[in-house]
Amino acid sequence: MTSAIQDKELEILKAETAAAATIARLQSESFDKAWSEEDVRALLAGPGALGLIASFGDTPFGYVIARSTGEEAELLSIGVSYAARRAGVGLALLRHLQTTLRELGTTKLFLEVDSTNRAAVELYSREDFRKIGTRKLYYKTANGKRNDALVLRKVIRLPVDDTDATQANYDGVARHGI
Ligand SMILES: CC(C)(COP(=O)(O)OP(=O)(O)OC[C@H]1O[C@@H](n2cnc3c(N)ncnc32)[C@H](O)[C@@H]1OP(=O)(O)O)[C@@H](O)C(=O)NCCC(=O)NCCS
Repeated sequence: MTSAIQDKELEILKAETAAAATIARLQSESFDKAWSEEDVRALLAGPGALGLIASFGDTPFGYVIARSTGEEAELLSIGVSYAARRAGVGLALLRHLQTTLRELGTTKLFLEVDSTNRAAVELYSREDFRKIGTRKLYYKTANGKRNDALVLRKVIRLPVDDTDATQANYDGVARHGI
């Protein structure tokens, strides 16, 4: 852990479009094919977009971007700088995202993850995301290999008009692929 992190509180703030450069930089640390600053700015300015940035002191170390269509949302990208990995930043961002989406009335959060991405798969599993599908050979890696994408979903808030709703009921639906 770097000195920029030690003894500092983690702060998570909503990312406005002005944070596009920061998110693009953080994303390029984690992904071979990162979005440009313009891509991120357009995304953040678009309908239903929600971006969060996690910082220790004044230094940003992680981000998450999601897009909500009201009831449903999709986590589009999450990344944490190498220097801050395994310090709880990714988990804090994911939890903050769910809280914010819940407040906006979103009931289900979806995402796609490379099946070989152990860190991310563990993170989502720990937060009770469930597999609802597989996209075979969906991701092309830098060395030309292809990996499956797992499609995951979490019910983050039960619909208010469904009095019989429980997480278990929804998980049952997910398991049967309906
Ligand atoms: C996935 C990622 C965001 C996790 O961020 P992080 O801040 O390092 O994760 P956290 O410290 O919050 O870890 C929370 C939990 O996730 C799991 N986890 C995180 N990194 C892990 C790893 N390398 N191996 C196994 N489990 C891991 C663990 O359960 C961990 O809890 P623990 O530390 O108490 O065991 C980060 O590794 C990253 O930026 N990866 C590159 C970008 C990426 O793959 N994004 C996801 C695309 S879908």
